Amino acid sequence: MMAKNYQGIHFGTDYYPEHWPRERWETDARLMQEMGIQVVRMAEFSWHKMEPREGQYDFDWLEEAITLLAQYGIKSILGTPSAAPPAWMINKHPDILPIDRQGRRRGFGGRHHDCQSNATYRKYITGMVTAMAKRFADNPNVIGWQTDNELGNSHGDLCMCDSCRRSFQGWLEKKYGTIEALNAAWGTHFWSQEYNSFEEIFAPLITVTGENPSTMLDWKCFCSDLIVDFQQMQIDIIRKYCPNHFITHNCMAFADKVNYFDLNKELDFASHDQYPGGFYAVMPHEYNHDMAANLDITRGFKHQTFWIMEQESGITGWEIMGRATRPGQLAAWAEQSIAHGADAIVFFRWRTCTAGTEQYWHGILPHSGNPGRRYDELKQMIARMQPVMDEIEGSMPRSEVAIVFSYRQEYAIQIQPQHPDLNYLTQVKKYYKELYRRNVPVDFVQDTDDFGKYKLLIAPLQYLMTPELAQRYFDYVKGGGRLVLTMRTGVKDAHNICMSDRELPGTLGELCGIEICDYDCLRDVLVKLDTSNLQVESAQVNVISERETGVESAAGCAGSKWADIITLKGAESLADYASEYYAGSPCITQNHYGDGAAYYVGTEPEEALMEQLMDKLLADAEVKSLGASEPGVELAIREKDGSKWLFAINFNEEAATYEVPADFEIVQGEVKGTLKPYEMHLYKKFS
Ligand code: GLA
Ligand code: ZN
Repeated sequence: MMAKNYQGIHFGTDYYPEHWPRERWETDARLMQEMGIQVVRMAEFSWHKMEPREGQYDFDWLEEAITLLAQYGIKSILGTPSAAPPAWMINKHPDILPIDRQGRRRGFGGRHHDCQSNATYRKYITGMVTAMAKRFADNPNVIGWQTDNELGNSHGDLCMCDSCRRSFQGWLEKKYGTIEALNAAWGTHFWSQEYNSFEEIFAPLITVTGENPSTMLDWKCFCSDLIVDFQQMQIDIIRKYCPNHFITHNCMAFADKVNYFDLNKELDFASHDQYPGGFYAVMPHEYNHDMAANLDITRGFKHQTFWIMEQESGITGWEIMGRATRPGQLAAWAEQSIAHGADAIVFFRWRTCTAGTEQYWHGILPHSGNPGRRYDELKQMIARMQPVMDEIEGSMPRSEVAIVFSYRQEYAIQIQPQHPDLNYLTQVKKYYKELYRRNVPVDFVQDTDDFGKYKLLIAPLQYLMTPELAQRYFDYVKGGGRLVLTMRTGVKDAHNICMSDRELPGTLGELCGIEICDYDCLRDVLVKLDTSNLQVESAQVNVISERETGVESAAGCAGSKWADIITLKGAESLADYASEYYAGSPCITQNHYGDGAAYYVGTEPEEALMEQLMDKLLADAEVKSLGASEPGVELAIREKDGSKWLFAINFNEEAATYEVPADFEIVQGEVKGTLKPYEMHLYKKFS
């Protein structure tokens, strides 16, 4: 196999040479080189600089920057500037500006002020991307491309203009074929919403009251497809002129405007923008698992290692700011990204900018441009990591546990949360967090992926059910898998219509050995549980993480938001309700089926319950933890060709301990088992 042109590149920065005087560029390049920077990303917001007037392309400045950087050994990635159409274009074609749900046209002056179906805008993009691609195709110092920037970001709703409405109609016609089929799928008999033709269908502008959940689900899926198509148009051009360059896109983990599994399909690798500091007053431990989850889902988009295209490099802030990053914290966060599968870390941004919205989103260099604490810290980190990155490159964790992540389920729950606080992502992350704090590696998978390699599969809120998906779950369990399904599973069909042919959870009732004929939406109340059947002998629990959880004892076990009142049809109960009129009815069940087992969790587990439930699940599935650690210390692993690298990272401001892994050799770090604040230890096990 031919080596990829990005192999061996591991550290970079996002650079905006056009923001600074030409005389400064050389200093920047030298400082970057001294720091160990190998690559920059440039130009993703520089449309006006590259086409100041219609048709007058100017790439000279960019080429000059690329050439200068190359003299310092630095390669370039170019961003297509389609997230920032310039004022001349908008004035000439105001219909490029998007229309929001209220029917208002959004103005110029921010970014992402573009309708993605607009034919005129697409023509301009075709012109720009073609010109850029042709110009840089043979430049030996350009290695790849980033399409647009954080597609799907920046507008609450996607555009609802006439052009988008027509595209939606076309998308629906392709999906349903006939208007009768659409009427049936959407249940338009309700409130006289039948359509006589596809041309009658609207974009879902704000209504007087209510909306059709089926329409909304299709709209969200359409918007996602539109973004994928918008990107594809750019990919096609770049592939044509630059067959040797890679193409990627900087995603945002769990942002939901576009299905990232789809968006990444035609890309060489996924990229992610990681900002642990966010706008938080402090970066509490509460968020460590969120950061890890961001990285794990990014790895899941292609089941492949990935790049961080923007890694935090200082205080975050637009109008308000987060806290200063503690000494060592930026390095620890970057190492966390590597630990979860990043092969390259590009820091955002090189130098803090002086103008515009992001004046307080701090770069490696401060406003003054003088290297300081952050520069030194990251320079040291690069010097430490660079020597091991080549061998680690391409290695992946071999997770025994997977969580199913589905945009369609998420959309459907967003459209009708049922309980006001029921949130798909929150639910997914509750399960994730419990695994994270036990140092159990997790993969995120699509519901169409291969489940077979996982010992434990957690599929929260499988609200929309199709015969095909149900079959996949049956097959997984039959083959020996352990599957966790939860409340609100099997409620609706693929079109977001309630199913009525049997009791909940529909066809999966047979797999779970249960039936649900009654349920309670737990408004402002927790339901108590008796979990005596859930207890596992501690000897069986092969994962222990010593931590003060503050969690109450078994007596304090509770569920929130929802209570499925379960009738056993072959399953055994692991936990019964202990309050409400359904006290004594099962809430959590287990059913042996084929060679495996299906668990059903009829509520959203509060912390103590989740802890017990996970003890049981991991013990049953014989899943191993990477080891025990104090709170705020994370263990993560990457493996390749029989070699394994184990990372121990301390996110605490104090020293903290972890269980030293057996049979591993320490390759970075001094006192095995004890980490200084924000320190990382790296272990290796040879094949
Ligand atoms: C995002 C964008 C960047 C920048 C940073 C900081 O991740 O991709 O262009 O806006 O956030 O706000
Ligand atoms: Zn539009």
